Amino acid sequence: MKTELVSSFTRICTEAYQQGWHERNGGNLSYRMREKEVEEVRDLLNEEAKWQDIDGCVPKLANEYFMVTGSGKYMKNVQRDFADNVAIIRVNEDGTKYKIVWGLVNGGRPTSELSSHLMNLEVLKQRDDGLRVVYHAHPANTVALTFVLPVDGEVFTREIWEMETECPVVFPQGIGVVPWMVPGGKEIGIKTAEIMKRQNVAIWYHHGMFVCGHDFDEAYGLMETVEKAAEMLVKVMSMSDRKLNTVTPEGFRQIARQYHLQLDERYLYEKKSDKIGER
Ligand code: 13P
Ligand code: ZN
Repeated sequence: MKTELVSSFTRICTEAYQQGWHERNGGNLSYRMREKEVEEVRDLLNEEAKWQDIDGCVPKLANEYFMVTGSGKYMKNVQRDFADNVAIIRVNEDGTKYKIVWGLVNGGRPTSELSSHLMNLEVLKQRDDGLRVVYHAHPANTVALTFVLPVDGEVFTREIWEMETECPVVFPQGIGVVPWMVPGGKEIGIKTAEIMKRQNVAIWYHHGMFVCGHDFDEAYGLMETVEKAAEMLVKVMSMSDRKLNTVTPEGFRQIARQYHLQLDERYLYEKKSDKIGER
């Protein structure tokens, strides 16, 4: 299968692997296909495949097709053998089942995070029909911060925003956080989808990050921006538990005016302490 979609899906898998965000089979990627993209490959799809249960229910995605990485498959191998590592799945008419209509040619099933991906894609479709990509990775600096920052999306957002002036411009809705939970099921999917109703970044404590985008570049770029800011925060914290200088709430309001952003005031609290991670 050689289409534009396959090339862009592959490119993000390869580049993200090179970033070090995908040890072994870590991370996964999904994409809600456009009708014309399905038509392009229609002749290759096996509609006779058997239906399997989705852990969860996504009625707003009824009858849609998705390109998704396989469970236990390595991001680095997507480029080498796309059909072995990736599937196209179709959701049934009430959003309770899926079938593999293409790919995973040597067996296997879609990512163990399929529930999270589909639940996210469902809320994103309702929010903005163009948001088609959901991407999960294990970037080290972001995950490291989940061991030292409180489980508090407002604090997490504020500390990350402060690290790079571009951050509030790239993700003005801030970051949502999910406390440590068992991955791979419906419960964590529900929590993540709750975040995706309004925000584009969800951090799973002691695990990784979920982001969304209109296309692969946007999703990848968002992961990259958060992870780079996290890396700077890790560097700062390795020197000191305090910031001597930083961007002030008024500074953020000025950015908001300049770039015509709506920055939620809940992230712009006056800090009572200069200790990183304290309000
Ligand atoms: P899969 O190989 O099933 O996609 O799982 C990887 C992962 O990151 C789980 O959170
Ligand atoms: Zn993971």
